[in-house]
Amino acid sequence: MEKIVSLSKRRGYVFQSSEIYGGLNGCWDYGPLGVELLRNIKEQWWQAMTYREDIEGIDASILMHPRVWEASGHVANFTDPMVDCKECKARFRADQIEDAPCGSPAYKGRKAAKCQAEGKFTDARQFNLMFKTFVGPVEDSSSVVYLRPETAQGIYVNFLNVLSASRQRPPFGIAQIGKAFRNEINTKNFLFRTREFEQMEMQFFVKPGSDEQWFSYWKDQRLEWFLRLGMRKEKLRFHRHEPDKLAHYAKDAYDIEYDFPFGWGEIEGIHNRTDYDLSRHEEFSGKSMKYFDEQSKERYTPFIIETSAGASRSFMAFLTDAYREEEAPTADGATEIRTVLGLHPKLAPLKAAVFPLVNRDGMPEIARSIEAAIRPHFRVFYDESGAVGRRYRRQDEAGTPFCITVDSQSLADRTVTVRERDSMRQERVSADRAVDFLRDRISGVPAGRQ
Ligand code: GAP
Repeated sequence: MEKIVSLSKRRGYVFQSSEIYGGLNGCWDYGPLGVELLRNIKEQWWQAMTYREDIEGIDASILMHPRVWEASGHVANFTDPMVDCKECKARFRADQIEDAPCGSPAYKGRKAAKCQAEGKFTDARQFNLMFKTFVGPVEDSSSVVYLRPETAQGIYVNFLNVLSASRQRPPFGIAQIGKAFRNEINTKNFLFRTREFEQMEMQFFVKPGSDEQWFSYWKDQRLEWFLRLGMRKEKLRFHRHEPDKLAHYAKDAYDIEYDFPFGWGEIEGIHNRTDYDLSRHEEFSGKSMKYFDEQSKERYTPFIIETSAGASRSFMAFLTDAYREEEAPTADGATEIRTVLGLHPKLAPLKAAVFPLVNRDGMPEIARSIEAAIRPHFRVFYDESGAVGRRYRRQDEAGTPFCITVDSQSLADRTVTVRERDSMRQERVSADRAVDFLRDRISGVPAGRQ
């Protein structure tokens, strides 16, 4: 994990938020390469989920009417049990003390569980994870609103709007990507548990009775999405929630888990939420959330199958999965360790780098013209500094799938070498075909790891 955090900072993937002020716990900033990777993940999700006939997209506001969170159950139930250490004042989630270290620097290496056994902790009390703020200039209880802790509710409250605007009928879905906020008691493991994060959620509205079939369909589809983008099969698994662990709204639930360096962790949840959400909003708003099927003349409250992925957690899983160190030959026949981010080309922040082999004989001019041809289509990087082997290594570490080098043969026949990141194989391609070559290779990558 330390290596990934360090590479993230060095290469501009992720920075600590407000770092020059000592950082803000549980908040992270995406740097120049990180923002590209995050956007590519979201774009791949958006394409997979909304480039189909039966799903519409929306973008709802983060601040919503406070009654939404009463109806959803978040005001009453979105809590974690919290305890405080009376001695060092550290705060813990009561259900996560087992793994936690003691909060005091004076007791290095000590476990919080030991302090608890010695009676240093307060009794557990419930702590609501929603961030509160106020609308308008008066800060009283009538102006309280919440930063949304999930994007799902913005979809439920727009169910009727989308239904009438899009002329969809169940089974159909609504998808949304957006920020969510949770005042987590303990943030940990880099991007895994943060206070501000992004979700990619899709709510699929179905006729009661067809819910189990659609649940199974979406469960398979979502695992397939991670595999198609190159994630290793053995690093992914389903975890089914035990009946006594199901959320209050759920009839069935599976997590997709990734095997992180700190252990298996949830990256996406697939839930059969029954008619709970629409029924609750009907009850609290007084508006009928039922659907009337003109053909069968039936009126019913749709069941909802939810797929809820964390964009930030998916980012961390893709980054972790792509990271590797391996032996590679050097120009003089020796070997060295190269660090590679084997990201799927569709996710890679930079699609290509262009190098002149040397900075003379017209090579930089040709390289610049190739870069200029690629730039309107793909993120590309131009690099003329240092030995070409070093330049390859820098791009391997950044995850760039293709390096295009202009050499002496290019001067004679306008061909260039294209070196592929994972296999390190090189082939000669016409410089004029560089854009088509990249387009074919990026879109034509087969399923499974590169
Ligand atoms: N609408 C259902 C829902 O929000 P969830 O299991 O609480 O379900 C869904 O969250 C996904 O959101 C998780 O699988 C995870 O990827 C992401 N997520 C939740 N809390 C997070 C946090 N504190 N930091 C980063 N990602 C988080």
